[in-house]
Amino acid sequence: MNIRPAKVGDLLGMQACNLQNLPENYTLRYYLYHAMTWPSLSYVAEDHQGRIVGYILAKMEEERDEKQPIHGHVTSISVLRSYRRLGLAKKLMVQSQEAMANIYRAQFVSLHVRKSNRAALGLYKDTLGFTVKSIEKGYYADGEDAYAMELSLQ
Ligand SMILES: CC(C)(COP(=O)(O)OP(=O)(O)OC[C@H]1O[C@@H](n2cnc3c(N)ncnc32)[C@H](O)[C@@H]1OP(=O)(O)O)[C@@H](O)C(=O)NCCC(=O)NCCS
Repeated sequence: MNIRPAKVGDLLGMQACNLQNLPENYTLRYYLYHAMTWPSLSYVAEDHQGRIVGYILAKMEEERDEKQPIHGHVTSISVLRSYRRLGLAKKLMVQSQEAMANIYRAQFVSLHVRKSNRAALGLYKDTLGFTVKSIEKGYYADGEDAYAMELSLQ
């Protein structure tokens, strides 16, 4: 398995992976926006045939609140079912976090996760050390609440 920065040619594969794994989907244009604007923050995991089996789509926060320091945000991450529990998501997260800190001087990284998403909560909380900053009621389209989580990159 190889982890490398995402290229424009990977975007369809990333979108296909996202469609298989999550109900939160995005237009190709939104993937392209990430890839063109923050080319070093999104990564893919590919198998030996070059097939995309996981990705992280990430960005720097654009809506700057004067009170908040510069920070990155994970828009989406997923790994195909048969490639899970191999440490791929952890590696994808760490690569993106390092680029946020080193290239953009991000002070922290934020993300949203469904309250019921046990696997993702295990990854963020237990493996990476994220903490819950707030609960956003009805954040998801089906009405489920989100945990807004953050991890310091300092
Ligand atoms: C969440 C997800 C990305 C994790 O991917 P992964 O490559 O399997 O994760 P990793 O192998 O890097 O796991 C790292 C750690 O996360 C935690 N974790 C991962 N899957 C877990 C599960 N099913 N249950 C509990 N903890 C889990 C564990 O602490 C794990 O460490 P360990 O294997 O040493 O115990 C994957 O399950 C997935 O794609 N889910 C569907 C999409 C999704 O929910 N994305 C997140 C949206 S916020």
